[in-house]
Amino acid sequence: MSPPGHDTEVAATARAAAEPAEPELFTRAAAHVMPTYGPPKVAFVRGQGAALFDTDGNTWLDLLCGLAVTSLGHAHPAVTEAVARQAATLVHTSNLHVTEPAVALAERLAELTGWPDAKVFLAQCGATANEAAIKLARKHGKAIHPDKVRVVALEGSFHGRTLATLEATGQPAKHAPFAPLAGFVDHVPHDDPDALRAAVGDDTCAVLLEVVQGEGGVRPLSPEMLAAAREACDAHDALLLADEVQTGIGRTGTWFAFQGTEVVPDVITLAKALANGLPIGACVAHGHAATVLGPGDHATTFGGNPVTCAAALAVLDTIEGQGLLQQANSRAKRLRAGLEALVGAAPYATGVRGRGLLLGLELDAAVAGQVEAACRDRFLLVNAVGGDVLRLAPPLIITREEVDLALAAIAEALQAVADANAA
Ligand SMILES: Cc1ncc(COP(=O)(O)O)c(C=O)c1O
Repeated sequence: MSPPGHDTEVAATARAAAEPAEPELFTRAAAHVMPTYGPPKVAFVRGQGAALFDTDGNTWLDLLCGLAVTSLGHAHPAVTEAVARQAATLVHTSNLHVTEPAVALAERLAELTGWPDAKVFLAQCGATANEAAIKLARKHGKAIHPDKVRVVALEGSFHGRTLATLEATGQPAKHAPFAPLAGFVDHVPHDDPDALRAAVGDDTCAVLLEVVQGEGGVRPLSPEMLAAAREACDAHDALLLADEVQTGIGRTGTWFAFQGTEVVPDVITLAKALANGLPIGACVAHGHAATVLGPGDHATTFGGNPVTCAAALAVLDTIEGQGLLQQANSRAKRLRAGLEALVGAAPYATGVRGRGLLLGLELDAAVAGQVEAACRDRFLLVNAVGGDVLRLAPPLIITREEVDLALAAIAEALQAVADANAA
């Protein structure tokens, strides 16, 4: 695929310097990197906008954004400039002190959520943001009753890989190697409001959910499910925690996915796209929830790091200043319409689900992994979630031409898989 960005001299020099011999890189990785992610398939050396460049000089179209992270595209100049400026000014002080970027980011998140009384705990990633939210909820519960520490979460959910967030994750296969876990989470189906109401009781301190389940197959929760969660929390003095690690920062068409629903959570968690690829997480609470954690309750050395916070501020300013939510919504319409046009016209495609630029192409057979590989053969990055859904999470800055290129590659990939399976 042709590169959507222009190749600057600086970038070309950086690429030449960074270019390793690909087989050697894979061999070195196999020798000394823990194989928790399975064997790598591509070695990338550079990115620009929606394009990635590999060690063989191929140009890829990135419709995955490093799993919903690089929403402004690769090497966005506003982020690069903010990181360079802050790195040359102040990198770390510890949280015994306070810095302008961390405070400014907390203020911006309070403004964008529409929660003037919001308080923010800054973490390093999605799991650590969720850990903060779970601890907050447990402290809230224990203040009411010592046993009020249970969490209700949803089957198919994904909340992280630390022990508490792994337990909250509603995917038993991921628990198995580490069981027994602490046993404080009850899971209910993602589409059963009655089961959710029945599971929430006086020993529940929180309901934790994703407004659109990402890893679980790009599954938006129904308005009934969200309303049941809010009502059950209100009835039992529990907090509603919305994990917006994947859906936040414009991914589903609003700053935060809950803003596209009728339901307001007590706490949201953010990470992924917040700093366009720099490691950051945030737990944002308002109302009573904002008052729960106090001195000594929670801490982390790198939370509120000035460089990552400066990057996050650049992300938020760019999205706002360049009207990227509106632009992303228009691209989302085009992408969704193109995917819908494949339904009935291309093999396997049966439907489209998701919201904004977090979309899933539903397939009528467990061939999503094959389709992902066939897209890779065409230098297009998408990924299979579950056996029968193809996830697309392009950058908010994707162009119309790139959307059309991606759609053409997906159509070809579906046909190629059908041909291969028929042979
Ligand atoms: C909804 C959700 N929550 C939490 C996480 C965990 O985030 P991290 O990998 O940054 O710890 C993810 C990661 O995919 C996620 O999608």
